[in-house]
Amino acid sequence: MNKIIAANHKMNLCAKDITSYVKQIDSLCNDEIIIFPSSIFVPYFLKKSFNVGVQNIYCRPNGAFTGEISAEQVKSLGIKYALIGHSERRLNNGEDDFLINLKIKSAINSGLTPILCVGETKEQKDLHKTDKVIKKQLTRALQDLNVLETENLIIAYEPIWAIGSGDVATNLDIKAMVSFIKGEIYKQKNAKPKVLYGGSVNPANIKELLEINEVDGFLIGGASLRAEDFKSIINKIKEA
Ligand code: PGA
Repeated sequence: MNKIIAANHKMNLCAKDITSYVKQIDSLCNDEIIIFPSSIFVPYFLKKSFNVGVQNIYCRPNGAFTGEISAEQVKSLGIKYALIGHSERRLNNGEDDFLINLKIKSAINSGLTPILCVGETKEQKDLHKTDKVIKKQLTRALQDLNVLETENLIIAYEPIWAIGSGDVATNLDIKAMVSFIKGEIYKQKNAKPKVLYGGSVNPANIKELLEINEVDGFLIGGASLRAEDFKSIINKIKEA
């Protein structure tokens, strides 16, 4: 089954863990698998021909921005993808939709494929505001993008309450939200980008999640850190 399988390592694993991780998943390396390690470990994966992405970029191409990495620099290493707007960055680093829009444009200008993360909080879900929240995130993040640029990016629907909680969204909710996102983008931009689901995906629930045809792949955090679990998820997707 052709699904995108993205691993978001966040700020986890050290050099010796990465070496053994790469060894364990090496044989699975293919076009559909994208690894988002801590930026300093990107070369470990590039060396082995993995598809690699960074977890963040800055919105400017170069200059006096200590500690930041630009899309241009990322692209110059042969990296193809950048996660943009992950809820942890929105929350911990105060990133808003306007900055996210600048980062997306910067990624596109440098030839990177952005993976835009959107999602609602538990409170917003309980107040039945999910559609409104997601629509606003999409509209602002994708502002000024043309059909082709929108078509070529990837969206990750990640309900914030499902991230790292073990509390995966129901198939019914995921199907409804992914369809909503696809419909909204088509309405706004006449484009059909791929949409992933993320939030507590693991080897035990992947089979059920694969029943949702609308989902084009998965963004996996915690379970991607353990090579065995990640391998098990990949194998179940391949078998489906
Ligand atoms: P999780 O994280 O799989 O640990 O819930 C997903 C993410 O934050 O991308």
